[in-house]
Amino acid sequence: MKIIETIAEMRQFVREQRGAGKTIGFVPTMGALHQGHQELFHKAGERCDIVVASIFVNPMQFGVNEDLAAYPRDSEGDARKAAAVGVAALFLPRVEEMYPTGYATQVDVLGITDLLCGKSRPGHFRGVATVVTKLFNIVQPDVAFFGQKDAQQVLVLKRMAADLNMALEIEVVPIVREADGLALSSRNAYLNAKERQAALSLSRSLALAKQEFAAGRRSVQELKQLILEELSKETLAVIDYVEVYSYPDLAKTETVAGQAIVALAVRFGATRLIDNLILGGTEGCY
Ligand code: PAF
Repeated sequence: MKIIETIAEMRQFVREQRGAGKTIGFVPTMGALHQGHQELFHKAGERCDIVVASIFVNPMQFGVNEDLAAYPRDSEGDARKAAAVGVAALFLPRVEEMYPTGYATQVDVLGITDLLCGKSRPGHFRGVATVVTKLFNIVQPDVAFFGQKDAQQVLVLKRMAADLNMALEIEVVPIVREADGLALSSRNAYLNAKERQAALSLSRSLALAKQEFAAGRRSVQELKQLILEELSKETLAVIDYVEVYSYPDLAKTETVAGQAIVALAVRFGATRLIDNLILGGTEGCY
């Protein structure tokens, strides 16, 4: 596996691969790779001739009081994991390479970034859209792969790619969970044993919503109430949001008709976790 640190070198690699007629699958990450990322690499390898991954903890998508400094970093371990699953090139740019002195451009997707994580983390999706635009321009993939756990991120990036006529496809890979239901996330590494146990209330409350939906419950208020009650049984759970919106347009609705997303953000100690469930469809179902 080639480790690439500069944009010029990455462009050269992409030129060579394209010259050899290869299609490129791209998996952008912030590192601390886990089984969820492995699944993205795996899907990329199935669909494309070569897989390029990036690891860049993007300062622009972190708010001032967020975990940028503490975000888990393990470049060597990550490189071993990426090589083991057949990633052809790992792009590891430094912050100054991506945002040199004088950098002044941001990408803003309007509307759907006003709610859920966009509301709780102002500016977060501007940072994500900006860095992903830059990475797409550098890597020029045929297909880019993202996990459904970051459901709103996926919708924002799909909107952005369509609006800006980006010549690539975005493929969404279902949520990967631990055997006990906890959705995989690099931030799970922050949890102590008690918080880890309490965090199971996320998947438990989604499973309850799924069960109630299957039994015919369609009232958004009732579904939210059930989830809130389940989460509030956990004294360590501090709720950021529990929302049910129509999907994929993220419109407010009183009744679930067609597809809807149940989206949760909850803090356990200093760790904020998100999880979601699509009701009435197959995409990313719990
Ligand atoms: O999902 C992530 O890890 C990040 O938001 C991404 C897409 C790599 C952009 O920094």
